Amino acid sequence: MEDSVTTTPQAPVESISLAFLGGTGDQGRGLAFRFARAGHPVIIGSRSEERARTVASLLGHHVQGMANRDAAREASVVIAAVPFEGHGDLLAPLAPELAGKILVDCVNPLGFDDRGAYPLPVPEGSAAEQAAALLPDSRVVAAFHHVSAVLLLDPEVESMDLDVLVLGDNRAATDLVQALAGRIPGVRGVYAGRLRNCAQIEALTANLVSINRRYKAHAGIRITDI
Ligand SMILES: NC(=O)c1ccc[n+]([C@@H]2O[C@H](COP(=O)([O-])OP(=O)(O)OC[C@H]3O[C@@H](n4cnc5c(N)ncnc54)[C@H](OP(=O)(O)O)[C@@H]3O)[C@@H](O)[C@H]2O)c1
Repeated sequence: MEDSVTTTPQAPVESISLAFLGGTGDQGRGLAFRFARAGHPVIIGSRSEERARTVASLLGHHVQGMANRDAAREASVVIAAVPFEGHGDLLAPLAPELAGKILVDCVNPLGFDDRGAYPLPVPEGSAAEQAAALLPDSRVVAAFHHVSAVLLLDPEVESMDLDVLVLGDNRAATDLVQALAGRIPGVRGVYAGRLRNCAQIEALTANLVSINRRYKAHAGIRITDI
């Protein structure tokens, strides 16, 4: 969608409801936990409503569990947190539910072999651009690629030390997702360009995997001088 489209939810950022497609996995659960703890209404989505309800009840903080389609319909902002293999097939049929909404994509198309992680080619350029192609009536924003699910899920970690790089083609939407990133203590949302520059953001995660393996860490990224 073009920059001129301004259908960003008017609600204050702290009251925005969030749904996580594939929210039963580490990344979705981790982000859901952080946003629920920050006071947001949060929905876990899953291919299985029962699995979603189970995970939601374990997270507490009034988190709800629903089938992915219902979760996409109910929330103001929807985050896709599924493996790249299922990404396109999950999003395409949800286009009606996601129309007019912000879809946040944190998917890293990566392969793994005995030499570690490496980026997979994506015909559209990146997972986020694939989402944008499948969801022409949504505003796709790419963010949260480099956040460690291990740290997100650790209740002892009060504050996280990283910048979240936020990419998209609609200024109001990237501004909102930057503000949402900032709801996680210690995190700063930084605008990092348009979706056409998302491939290297997704691919950079392969380098972070290497860093984490070598240094036994959960490394994040900080941008200097801003
Ligand atoms: N883990 C991290 O630290 C991390 C950090 C940054 C970004 N990410 C990105 O976030 C995404 C999710 O990561 P994850 O570690 O949470 O992955 P995951 O645990 O492997 O999968 C997340 C959820 O996706 C659903 N799913 C699995 N295969 C699917 C398919 N073919 N179609 C539709 N849904 C499917 C499953 O939920 P149901 O079976 O309940 O539907 C699963 O619980 C990935 O794209 C990853 O690159 C991960």
